[in-house]
Amino acid sequence: MIQTISDDDFRKLTNFIKAEYGITLQEKRQLVTSRLSSLVSEQGFNDFGPFVNNLLKERNPQKMELVLNRLTTNYTFFMRETEHFDFFTKVIMPELVRKYQKKKSIAIWSAGCSSGEEPYNLTMCIKEFLGLQASQWDTRILATDISQQALAKAKKGIYEVPDTVPAIWRKKYFKKIEGSRYAVTPDVRNNVIFQTFNLMDPIKFRTKFDVIFCRNVMIYFDQPTKDALVRRFYDVTNPGGYLMISHSENLSKDAPYVTVAPSTFQKK
Ligand SMILES: C[S@@+](CC[C@H](N)C(=O)[O-])C[C@H]1O[C@@H](n2cnc3c(N)ncnc32)[C@H](O)[C@@H]1O
Repeated sequence: MIQTISDDDFRKLTNFIKAEYGITLQEKRQLVTSRLSSLVSEQGFNDFGPFVNNLLKERNPQKMELVLNRLTTNYTFFMRETEHFDFFTKVIMPELVRKYQKKKSIAIWSAGCSSGEEPYNLTMCIKEFLGLQASQWDTRILATDISQQALAKAKKGIYEVPDTVPAIWRKKYFKKIEGSRYAVTPDVRNNVIFQTFNLMDPIKFRTKFDVIFCRNVMIYFDQPTKDALVRRFYDVTNPGGYLMISHSENLSKDAPYVTVAPSTFQKK
């Protein structure tokens, strides 16, 4: 049964989620109540009032995770917006290989990687490009998300592989488990480092990045939150480095990047 939520509880809940995770739900009352109603009863509450109070008081990460999992989508798939992978392989990889010929190390971040298809897909592009030289390069990808559930699936690396994945890749980079279930091969798996990270937090990784993929994540954020995150991305990007967002997203006009292809931006 869909429960109702008072104006006050709705405001408290959505303000909290916005402040902690950047996710804007103020206009989405219907979505919030329909997606959270069953969780309210599953956790033994009669209505939203005590549920919201408990959530805000305890700030229990496991409980927050359950809420976030209902309110956001982890939807992702191999070869999603494949133009980005083409641009990455045809334009970015040749540039990076020229640039880092000596140190043989490139830094890529999949921010909001969900269940891992995106960073594994990038790994396959890198391996295709580098061929036999791949073992001489450090191409490890940092892949982060706020959802433990999505990251647990990512770490397992087991998927129903869609037909859009080229047959030759399926052979090279996956091992059949049973039926249509495949596991990514250990060398693909080991090229990705998964970590929990909330994109609202200050970005303090040891390295700066040559490429940041942050696709279909900022759709949840309002403009000021998005602008601030894009500035933080810019600060941790090497000169000449790239930011890729989804085709359905935009950067504001005063974003510091230069547009070089659809939804592809460069720090000049
Ligand atoms: C739709 S998936 C995008 C997956 C992949 N990048 C793609 O384009 O297919 C969006 C992901 O963003 C994550 N996310 C939402 N808000 C976040 C935040 N504040 N910090 C980190 N990840 C967040 C969600 O957990 C979800 O896994």
